[in-house]
Amino acid sequence: MKATKIYLVFICVSILGLISCDQKKEQKIESVIIVQPKIILDLLDLQKKNKLGKDTLVTVNNDPVYHKTKKYQAVNAVNIIKREIDLSKIDVKNTVIIFECIDGYKPEMPLELFLQAKPYLAFKDADAPKDSNWERIIKNGNEMNADPFYLVYTSSIATTNQEYKWPYNVIKFQLVSKNINNALEPKNDEKATKGFVLYQKYCITCHAINGIGGEMGPELNYPKNVTEYWKETELVDYIVNPASFRHKVKMPTLGITKQQSQEIVDYLKYMSEHKKKI
Ligand code: HEC
Repeated sequence: MKATKIYLVFICVSILGLISCDQKKEQKIESVIIVQPKIILDLLDLQKKNKLGKDTLVTVNNDPVYHKTKKYQAVNAVNIIKREIDLSKIDVKNTVIIFECIDGYKPEMPLELFLQAKPYLAFKDADAPKDSNWERIIKNGNEMNADPFYLVYTSSIATTNQEYKWPYNVIKFQLVSKNINNALEPKNDEKATKGFVLYQKYCITCHAINGIGGEMGPELNYPKNVTEYWKETELVDYIVNPASFRHKVKMPTLGITKQQSQEIVDYLKYMSEHKKKI
C-alpha cells in the first residue's frame, strides 16, 4: 500500500516536472522564432577562406553607379549563397536578402528576385588605375571606392527596375524572414499603415525602429521616439529637406512631398506607442 502511495506521488511530481519543462521549452522556441530566421554570410571571411568561388570577367552596360559601361572581376553571387545555405530548407518566397554595407547602409530585395537576377559580386574593377581596385566613385562631391565588394548584374532590366539593388562597400549578406519586417507593420490603423509603406520605401535602409533596419542614421524609436523630442512641424520639414536644418548632413533629400513626410511622421507617432526593447 505504502509503496503504491509513494509511486503515485512520484508520478504526480514527474507530471508536474514534465509540464514545467514543456513550458520552458515553449518559451525558448518563441525567442528562437524571432532570432533564428536571420542568416548572416560574412563575405570578407568567405574571401579569406577562399570560399567565394571562381572568378569571371563580367560586362555591365549602363552601370548605374559609374554611369557607363564597365567590366569587373567578379564571382557568381547566387552560388556563394547556395554553397553555404541549403535553400530547400528556407521559405524563399517569404525571405528578403539584406546587403549590409560598411557605413551601416542596408538596402534589401526579395530573395526570390535576387536568385533569378544573375547577380555578381565584383571585387575588382577592370578599368581601375594601378594603385587601386576601383575607379573612383564621385557622390555628392565626395570621392570613394567600392571596396570590398560591389553587387552588379548583367541584365538590362536590373539597371532600370528600382527593385534591383546595386550596393557597394558590401560586407555581409543577411537572409531575413519577411516576418521580421512585419513586426514594424501597424495593426488596424490605416493612417499609420500609409506612412509605414513610405517608411519601408525611403527610410528603413538607413534607420532602425525597435532595432530593425539600417544603421547609417540613428534609431528612430527606442529609447525615445523622434516625435517625443522634435516639434512635429519641424520634423516634417526636416524629413523633406534635412540640409535646410543641418550643414553637411549625410541624410539625403529623398524627393518626398510634405504630405508624404506627414504620413511618415504619423507612422512614427504610432510606433512611439509600440516600443520594444531590443
Ligand atoms: C542614406 C541614408 C538615410 C536615409 C535613406 C534616411 N536617413 Fe534619416 N538620417 C540619416 C543620417 C546619417 C542621419 C544623422 C544626421 C545626418 O548626418 O544627416 C539622419 C537623421 C535623421 C533624423 C534626425 C534624428 C535626430 O534626432 O537627430 C530623422 C528624424 C530622420 N533621419 C528621419 C528619416 C526618415 C523619416 C527617412 C525616410 C523618409 C530617412 N530619415 C531616410 C540617414 C538617412
